[in-house]
Amino acid sequence: MFQKEVYAERRLKLKKEIQGGIALFMANQEAAFNYPANTYAYRQDSHFSYFFGLNHPGFAGVIDLDNGKEILFGDDVEIDDIIWMGPQPSVTDQAAQVGINEVYAFGKLEDYLKKAIAAGRTVHFLPPYRGAMMITLGHLLGIAAHEVKAKASIPLIKAVIKLKEIKSELEVAEIEKAIDIAWLMHTTAMKMAKPGIIEQEIAGTIEGIALAHGGPVSFPVILSVDGQTLHNHSHHNVLKEGRMMVVDAGTETQTLYASDITRTVPVGGKFSTRQKDIYEIVLKANIDSIAAIRPGVEYRDVHLIASKIITEGLKTLGLMKGNTDDAVAAGAHTLFLPHGLGHMMGMDVHDMEGLGENYVGYDEETKRASQFGTAYLRLGKKLKPGFVLTDEPGIYFIPALIDKFRNEGLFKDFVNYDKVETYKDFGGIRIEDDILVTENGRRILGRPIPKTIADVEATCAEPREWLKIPGVF
Ligand code: GLY
Ligand code: MN
Ligand code: MN
Repeated sequence: MFQKEVYAERRLKLKKEIQGGIALFMANQEAAFNYPANTYAYRQDSHFSYFFGLNHPGFAGVIDLDNGKEILFGDDVEIDDIIWMGPQPSVTDQAAQVGINEVYAFGKLEDYLKKAIAAGRTVHFLPPYRGAMMITLGHLLGIAAHEVKAKASIPLIKAVIKLKEIKSELEVAEIEKAIDIAWLMHTTAMKMAKPGIIEQEIAGTIEGIALAHGGPVSFPVILSVDGQTLHNHSHHNVLKEGRMMVVDAGTETQTLYASDITRTVPVGGKFSTRQKDIYEIVLKANIDSIAAIRPGVEYRDVHLIASKIITEGLKTLGLMKGNTDDAVAAGAHTLFLPHGLGHMMGMDVHDMEGLGENYVGYDEETKRASQFGTAYLRLGKKLKPGFVLTDEPGIYFIPALIDKFRNEGLFKDFVNYDKVETYKDFGGIRIEDDILVTENGRRILGRPIPKTIADVEATCAEPREWLKIPGVF
């Protein structure tokens, strides 16, 4: 947890962003894994944590936007809880740690909200993403559970995004801790990528590294020699020479800040010529598009820079043809890059995505494209200093997509389908870094993780050793 002044300042800023009413932030509840007492590892709601800091289930935080009061609702533990969980600080003591001195039992929240509603006051709340929370909020606010999400407060959504999209130095330092741990996760995966290993051995090891540094992974590890499947969570393949292994993984700090890094390595540690050719194109797209990141630039344009580099590169290999600008305008490159260049990152790996992608990644000036592939770009709007985002171009040979485009006669002027057929066994390559937009440009965050061919090959050749990232927690 940060010092209490951090949370007090965030709440103060929020009060200046919205006129009137009550802002209600619900802490996450415990979530059952396979029966009620056997729960998933607890994960606090990111927005509650941002304003109220406490990593405790079942609380609610209220900011009264009319009189400035800040209240925490929550229950002290009983002796039964202490037997199972050990002694716990009182709610009052916990509240004091984040600068709040008005505390009530959780059971008082319903009455408090009903009185406010009866007095005609607006209760602003964010859209819930868990079914149980929809039921709880529905009950507290007198709304049918299935309507709660749609009744979330747009002014609160916009205000929260406005505050959270600009990361402070403190937040960037947390993100860099998460990336430093990801450095160890990824370099370990590189050293383990030998023929005969099962993907799950590597996936389990790198998830263990995250856990050993105090965090969970920031999303389920994506690790596969079938990297053409973009988010492949199945880890049963045996590594074989000739395949590329995509590893997309990161962790969270105890303050919930994420890392999200992708590296792609050849099984056995040496790139073939064919692998090198494709890898160099993705690497150039990653490096050159990162170089284009600066305040005032629309991220959609940065996405287009990467798309053009990929098209140019595939043309030199004879996989694409024709005029590059025309090919990208038509969307032909989306056969190979069917996703966006990146997304905001912060306390959620896709930061604030639950508030609505279009609120986070787009605005009045920049509207989401409708074209296949480009429409999946989660961040298109103009960049500002303090944004933290990912840059993650890739090239994928997805047999089903190749067949579909070919059968539909799409992009015949830009795609050499006969040649593409010979790459159907290739898999995919993605390279992803986490970037801070600075006053004048950008900074790649965290300890550099090998990504040139020479550095990846050198790391793959190193023996694996258990390391601890010093000074992280
Ligand atoms: N880790 C998921 C993503 O890169 O968006
Ligand atoms: Mn990723
Ligand atoms: Mn990402």
